[in-house]
Parts: sequence; C-alpha cells; structure tokens
Amino acid sequence: MIGTVNFKDVIAKRRMVRNYTDESVDADSLARIVWAGRKAPSAGFSQGQAFVVITSQATRSAIAELAGEAEYVADGLDPWISRAPVHVIVCVSESAYHRRYNEADKLHDGKETDWPIPYWWVDAGASLQNLLLAAVDEGLAAGFLGLHAIPGIRELLGIPAEYEPIGVVTIGRPAPDGRSRSLNRGWREESHVVHLERWSDDWAPDF
Ligand SMILES: Cc1cc2nc3c(=O)[nH]c(=O)nc-3n(C[C@H](O)[C@H](O)[C@H](O)COP(=O)(O)O)c2cc1C
Repeated sequence: MIGTVNFKDVIAKRRMVRNYTDESVDADSLARIVWAGRKAPSAGFSQGQAFVVITSQATRSAIAELAGEAEYVADGLDPWISRAPVHVIVCVSESAYHRRYNEADKLHDGKETDWPIPYWWVDAGASLQNLLLAAVDEGLAAGFLGLHAIPGIRELLGIPAEYEPIGVVTIGRPAPDGRSRSLNRGWREESHVVHLERWSDDWAPDF
C-alpha cells in the first residue's frame, strides 16, 4: 500500500476536484504519483506514455491562460487551473507503438497490426487514471482538463512532435469547489452498463 487510504475508498473518493488550497505538494508524494502514472500498463509494453511535471507558478498560469481559465471563473468556478500547485501533462507517442509492433514478436505474417483499437489512447487513459487515484491515495485531490480545451500547450512546453499531449492533471490539497454541470446527468443505470454472461438490458445484478 502506498498511502493510508483503502483501495476501494480511493476509487469511491476520487472525483474531479476543481479548486485547491495554495499549499504545495510534498516532493515525495509527487514522486509516488508520477511513479503510478508510469506504472500503468501499455500494449506490448510499448511504454509510449510520457509526463511533463510542472510546479512553476509562471508556467501554471500560462497553461491556465491557454485553457481559458477566465471563462471558467466567469461561469462561477474557481481559478482551479492556475491555483493547483502541480500540473502533470499526460502525453503519448503513437510512433512508439508502431516501432514496437514492428518488432519480430509482434508481426503477424510479416505485417504490423492494422490497429482496430488505437492502444496508445487506451494506455494514456490508464496512466491518467493511475495519476488521479494516486493523488487521492496521497490524501490529495486531482482534476483533469482535456487538451481539446488547451490550444498551444505543445509550443509552451516544448513537447516534441512525436508526442501528443492529451491533457493536464491538476493536483493539490482540495478546497471547496463548484459542482460541474456535467454531473447533473447522473449515473447511467447499472443494468444498461453491466451485462452478465451476455449482452442484455434486463440483467438484475446479484453480486
Ligand atoms: C477524457 C476526459 C476529458 C475531460 N475534460 C474535462 C475538461 O476539459 N474540463 C473539465 O472541467 N473536466 C473534464 N473532465 C472531467 C469530467 O467532466 C468528469 O470526470 C465527469 O463529469 C465525472 O465527474 P467525476 O470525475 O468528478 O466523477 C474530463 C474527463 C475525462 C475522462
């Protein structure tokens, strides 16, 4: 166990937190959180994931500006992006997967798979979730801002062309925050989401 919180409680407690105190994150905690991001699985052990860890206030403010934080604030949310003491930008290299799947043990009839599922996105998601959960495990909180909302971050951080930044994980000590409007949708019904033995809409869960 890394931290002090039970695994199920970590999952239950995790939510996107969109406000933080100005307390900095302990370097050892941050190292363990980033380790958890690296420890995520990857197809063929390609390890295409990479992370830019940012604590500089100037860079965090620049990211917040690119992300249009002022609009969040105008919408009644807190300036949670610039306020978060740590940003971790999750990146992934598609090329790493093509290189790996052209190695002898991955070729089929001499050919690379045609990637019915682009596993690089799957692996980036696994790293993202590990970071979010590890933050909770450290007694901290985390949020995520998808890159669709942050134009220009590649240039700001000097991310090489081979890597696609997928978004920013904000990490810090939680402060009271506003509720996302997305949550008004509520959870989908379990019987629509979980199918036992075979896809069916009328499964009555019994485990
Ligand atoms: C791929 C992805 C992109 C997201 N992008 C944003 C975003 O740009 N801004 C934001 O405030 N929240 C973003 N979220 C957070 C979701 O709105 C949030 O996870 C969802 O409403 C469920 O809430 P919870 O994570 O607090 O349980 C994103 C989440 C994911 C997984």
